[in-house]
Amino acid sequence: MKQITFASFKGGAGKTTAAMAVTSALSQKGERIALIDTDENMPLIEWRNNALKAGTWSDQIGVFEADDLRSFEKAFEDSEKQKFDYAVIDTRGGGSELNNACVINTHLVIIPSALTQLDMTQALTTFEHTIGLHQQMGMQIPTALLIQRVPVQKLTVSQRQDLAALSELPCFETHLHARDAFASLGKRGLLHLVHEQMRSDPMRRISASHLAVAMDEVQALANDFLEALEDA
Ligand SMILES: Nc1ncnc2c1ncn2[C@@H]1O[C@H](COP(=O)(O)OP(=O)(O)O)[C@@H](O)[C@H]1O
Ligand SMILES: [Mg+2]
Repeated sequence: MKQITFASFKGGAGKTTAAMAVTSALSQKGERIALIDTDENMPLIEWRNNALKAGTWSDQIGVFEADDLRSFEKAFEDSEKQKFDYAVIDTRGGGSELNNACVINTHLVIIPSALTQLDMTQALTTFEHTIGLHQQMGMQIPTALLIQRVPVQKLTVSQRQDLAALSELPCFETHLHARDAFASLGKRGLLHLVHEQMRSDPMRRISASHLAVAMDEVQALANDFLEALEDA
């Protein structure tokens, strides 16, 4: 089982959204995913509950609560035993022992950042902290930034400068854009299953076509992650 961890000191950086999006993409590829929710607000448990109600969930995905070190270990053991293909680990903002454990016990660390000064500063701090931990442990775990919530319209000069500055660090080639399909993911369920439902409703064809664009984006991102995992 390969583990993918979303981390950032900053709350609202887009960790949970990216975790849900990439879980949808991997699930669409037929992979079995263990989602490990280490945020005490349990956004992934809520996601599953909403999706179950909407009929947009898959029993190929297991969700594990892990809000302390002990339950994190247990979630790990259980998901190993249940032979999931991937574990997707969502962390809460801020620094903690649990977050440190998450970025060490993984094959890939993803640090989301939007194109704002605050996000970028926090992403850099998270990156340095994570690499520092890996070095202390004598580990080399691929760690890269995911540029999140990129405007779909033409970027401003300062956004272009921010993008160039972020690109100095290891970044995934695919960016996630600011899209309604992503903002509503937590309420709706697995992206591809939401799409299937929408497509069959003639009144919602336009929304379905927007969702299809978002799905292509997360498939490309999932492929970037799989490529990074090959070296892990
Ligand atoms: N690519 C995106 N497009 C649109 N909205 C987004 C996107 N990524 C995140 N959001 C929104 O931004 C807010 C914070 O995102 P979230 O994933 O919860 O961040 P974190 O888990 O890092 O705290 C949420 O309201 C979410 O819906
Ligand atoms: Mg979150």
